[in-house]
Amino acid sequence: MSSVQSMSAEAIAIQRDAFIERFLQSAAGTFSLFSIYIGDRLGLYRALAEGGPSTSEELAKRTNTHERYIREWLEQQTVAGILEVENENHGSDTRRFSLPPGHVEPLIECGSLNYMVPMAQLLVGAVRPLQSVLEVYRNGGGVPFDEYGADLREGQAAINYPAFWHQLPAEWLPAIPDVHARLQADPPARVADLGCGYGWSSLGMARGYPNIHVDGFDLDAPSIERAQANAKRNRLAERVHFQVRDAGDPSLAGQYDLVTAFECVHDMNNPVGALRTMRRLAKKDGVVLIVDERVGDAFTPKGNDVEWMMYGWSILHCLPVGMTDQDAAGTGTVMRADTLRQYAKDAGFRDVEILPIEHFFFRFYRLTP
Ligand SMILES: C[S@@+](CC[C@H](N)C(=O)[O-])C[C@H]1O[C@@H](n2cnc3c(N)ncnc32)[C@H](O)[C@@H]1O
Repeated sequence: MSSVQSMSAEAIAIQRDAFIERFLQSAAGTFSLFSIYIGDRLGLYRALAEGGPSTSEELAKRTNTHERYIREWLEQQTVAGILEVENENHGSDTRRFSLPPGHVEPLIECGSLNYMVPMAQLLVGAVRPLQSVLEVYRNGGGVPFDEYGADLREGQAAINYPAFWHQLPAEWLPAIPDVHARLQADPPARVADLGCGYGWSSLGMARGYPNIHVDGFDLDAPSIERAQANAKRNRLAERVHFQVRDAGDPSLAGQYDLVTAFECVHDMNNPVGALRTMRRLAKKDGVVLIVDERVGDAFTPKGNDVEWMMYGWSILHCLPVGMTDQDAAGTGTVMRADTLRQYAKDAGFRDVEILPIEHFFFRFYRLTP
């Protein structure tokens, strides 16, 4: 008997109303995210933080924007609980809007681990090729990474930047004693970082270990261009080099003490090919480290909060970008430990160890060649 047949009309109405409530909350939350994108891109939050409580006219003047739009946005932000208002009962020209102190860090402090704004930019990027996504749902195939555009790339880089710049060299690598020791020792260690995006993981490692040399590789040319600029801007270009390369390229050569892949194996069409490269690039006593999503061990309808979000990225972005090749693995964001174990086995690794490093989103895998 189906659950519909077994439920009373009253139980169905309760279930319906609860679903409608969640649906409407989700819609409001989605509007909030897009409104945060507007506030960030136009510098409205920063102007409020720096200039203090402002009327719509003052804010529009300071940000070179159109007052009528800014007034609507300010009122929306207040109703959404993002901004606060003084003189709420006065006319619209004297209402002053401000950022609550607790909202400053998530909204404008781009170096902070609590900086949340890139999530909005990522979401805007993820829906950019929505019609192409519908097309591949119907007919198969994938959506090229490039179609997701600059917002996806920038959001991805910005969301991981604080962790890669601060935690990676100060907490994560020191928690792997033999790697930490090798990166500090002479002769200078060499690190290969596959799927490096804007390069923040490569640069974070080089910043924390002033001896090492890092080679970052990514298939996406605009990302590599930005990675090179980031290396220059941070005076690390002598020790950190970036190249446009496919992680599965059999001609990718070198001998490295550490080979890494941060949050990218699940995006790759051919993850086994990439893992083969990682195995080949690691010296005899080198270490292979994969950092990917901290999802559950198996599918369950009660998936945790991380999985709830990862499935969201997967249906819009990670699965479509990982399905562009004819024989793609089709992994998706929710790459479970057993899936990676199988990929590692197919690539010739003997063992996969999950390292005891705590992070809300990431799991750390050490692969033994
Ligand atoms: C989700 S992003 C992660 C970027 C970066 N590691 C980070 O954590 O911010 C995935 C990256 O993998 C790259 N990528 C996907 N397939 C690749 C492949 N076969 N070879 C090299 N890079 C690849 C994409 O271009 C993209 O930059």
